[in-house]
Amino acid sequence: MALIELKNLTYHYPLTNSPALQDLDLEVQEGEFLAIVGANGAGKSTLCYTISGFIPHFFKGELAGSVSVAGIDPTKAGLGEFVQKVGLVFQNPFNQISGSKFTVYEEIAFGLENLGIDPAEMRERVDEIIRLTRIEDLKDRSPYALSGGQQQRVALASILVMRPQILVLDEPTSQLDPIGSQEVFQVIKDMALQGMTIIMAEHKVEWVAEFADRILALSAGQAIKLGTPREVLGSPELPEHGIGISRYTQVARKALQAGLWPEKRSMPVTLDECVQGFQEIIA
Ligand SMILES: Nc1ncnc2c1ncn2[C@@H]1O[C@H](COP(=O)(O)OP(=O)(O)OP(=O)(O)O)[C@@H](O)[C@H]1O
Ligand SMILES: [Mg+2]
Repeated sequence: MALIELKNLTYHYPLTNSPALQDLDLEVQEGEFLAIVGANGAGKSTLCYTISGFIPHFFKGELAGSVSVAGIDPTKAGLGEFVQKVGLVFQNPFNQISGSKFTVYEEIAFGLENLGIDPAEMRERVDEIIRLTRIEDLKDRSPYALSGGQQQRVALASILVMRPQILVLDEPTSQLDPIGSQEVFQVIKDMALQGMTIIMAEHKVEWVAEFADRILALSAGQAIKLGTPREVLGSPELPEHGIGISRYTQVARKALQAGLWPEKRSMPVTLDECVQGFQEIIA
């Protein structure tokens, strides 16, 4: 059985007529890295909430079809059971802050404290995550006195420290600068290499192309494409659904028009594939 299984899932937020997710079928295997792409309002966050139990426990509404996440059926189990298995990093990091802690260090330790983890182990785990997410300089600051990008790193740290079996990231770098995004993507990639199952909603398609095993493209709550980065991002209908194409594909398309791209070579989606195409034509 797949680690995450959604069958014929349709979800309406309370008091809405059109579904935020419609007839969605999805299976994610243990250790897989699935990225979700889609225009604003496509349903990415809604899907992240569904996989992490916030739907139907926090957002009520109407859920039809079936959901199974690490053997848990959210309509039968409480949010507490999800918290042990699934960590959700919210799109808006402000939503992640507990509101009860004075420093970033305490904020990151909060979840472990609730689990009653031994203090020495807790310190070790918090220190390790602070190093990994590069927020040493923030650890004595108030979680409220941070920039959006700094809060986003703290939010990620507070989830990673819990070592969830499934990590759900809703646009985890939306407020980070290019170097910060690169650093955070590297941390996420390391988690994937360690075998964590990752679901990530993300607009930066070049990154997604590089890291994800598969990509799900959503439009108006429906799955329009599911496959490898090449299958999905190479698909010509993506722009019709407001989904950007990789800048490497754009470069190669221009180069093809100018006779500077090998005609038989397919369009690249990653930087490496783009460079290989140019190497071939130079050789
Ligand atoms: N709390 C809510 N109540 C009612 N409708 C909602 C709620 N949250 C989202 N929606 C609607 O559900 C649909 C999907 O929204 P969702 O936030 O999942 O999109 P998204 O793909 O995450 O967009 P973005 O890129 O802007 O983050 C949209 O039509 C949105 O208006
Ligand atoms: Mg969203």
